[in-house]
Amino acid sequence: MTSRAPTSKSTEPPIPILILGIETSCDETAAAVVRGQTILSNVVATQDELHAPFSGIVPEVASRAHVERVTEVIERALTRAGSVTLPAALDAIAVTYRPGLIGSLLVGLSAGKALAVAWDKPFIGIDHIDAHVHSVLMSGAEPPVVVLVASGGHTSLFALDAPGQSRLLGATLDDAAGEAFDKVAAMLGLGFPGGPAIEQAAKLGDHRAFAFPRPLLDRPGFDFSFSGIKTAVLYTLRKQGIHENTPPPDLVADIAASFQEAVVDVLVGKTLHAAEQLRLPGVAIAGGVALNGRLRECLARRAAEAGLSLCVPDRSLCPDNAAMVAGLGAVLFERGERSDLQLDASARTAAGRASRKGGRGLRKVSS
Ligand code: KG4
Ligand code: ZN
Repeated sequence: MTSRAPTSKSTEPPIPILILGIETSCDETAAAVVRGQTILSNVVATQDELHAPFSGIVPEVASRAHVERVTEVIERALTRAGSVTLPAALDAIAVTYRPGLIGSLLVGLSAGKALAVAWDKPFIGIDHIDAHVHSVLMSGAEPPVVVLVASGGHTSLFALDAPGQSRLLGATLDDAAGEAFDKVAAMLGLGFPGGPAIEQAAKLGDHRAFAFPRPLLDRPGFDFSFSGIKTAVLYTLRKQGIHENTPPPDLVADIAASFQEAVVDVLVGKTLHAAEQLRLPGVAIAGGVALNGRLRECLARRAAEAGLSLCVPDRSLCPDNAAMVAGLGAVLFERGERSDLQLDASARTAAGRASRKGGRGLRKVSS
């Protein structure tokens, strides 16, 4: 439990830690308040409408929108938390500092540091991917568990041993899963963000229509690769005589369904393989791609067949949000962790990999 001891010797229950979380690593401006691991407020201002005309995230547009929105989003999170003692009662402020778009990260980080100084509160820097991993515990997952984090910026597998303690098992060697959804959606003329659009189109298609590759699925290890599936879609379109023009709706539906099936097969296969190999009793998913219905359905079926427990977080905890940042902040705060105000933003993950988030919409879809 995340709590601080009562001030005097008594039988009173411990007082849960109260944390403000701030998240601006990519294109969501988010703030949340948690008490222990209970979410009091979880405010997210999405920028989808700003980036849609570019079929992807434009870093400069993202950071400007964060600047315009961050103060109001934090105010709303404090108000919705419903405590008249806020912000005075806060124990700490937790802010995402890596990985992500550097200009975006800097907005939330600067806001968090400024509030920590103004309100005289401890400040804790949070790794965004660790926060996604932690989100499954806020939805009832019991460690030890294998956690798949799949979103537009990252796709990684972790063994989560205890709150705040995870081991990286593998990660994508090229595109993130969500990035592949976004790029294939752009090829199919489905708009941005691509994940929900592909899921919708796939409902009318046949997932056996095209045999797209399942990269690395039969190889040992827990790394992923999605750029080959994306390229296979591009060649399929060319073979059908589709170059710059939009494909007909039935072809779009069949490609969307077959592409989604290939990505889901790889994500589910690697996740179950990790649980089997590490002899862990359960699996969980996090990140924006965890919203995908076909992924949820296949993982539920395969986990049940393998006798594994499954945790799929509440939909509000899958895409980028600050509740997961505040929740992990509460765990780290109780462990005594504090960050220096000199802490800098970093585009890279703990393992030194650059985030895939940077300007993905501006890359050519055939890259
Ligand atoms: O976690 P998230 O909100 O932000 C990042 O950290 O990137 O994830 C966004 C990604 C996008 O690539 C989006 O296309 C994908 O999650 N996504 C989905 C679905 N909803 C969002 N992918 C597949 N199916 C969905 N239903
Ligand atoms: Zn994320």
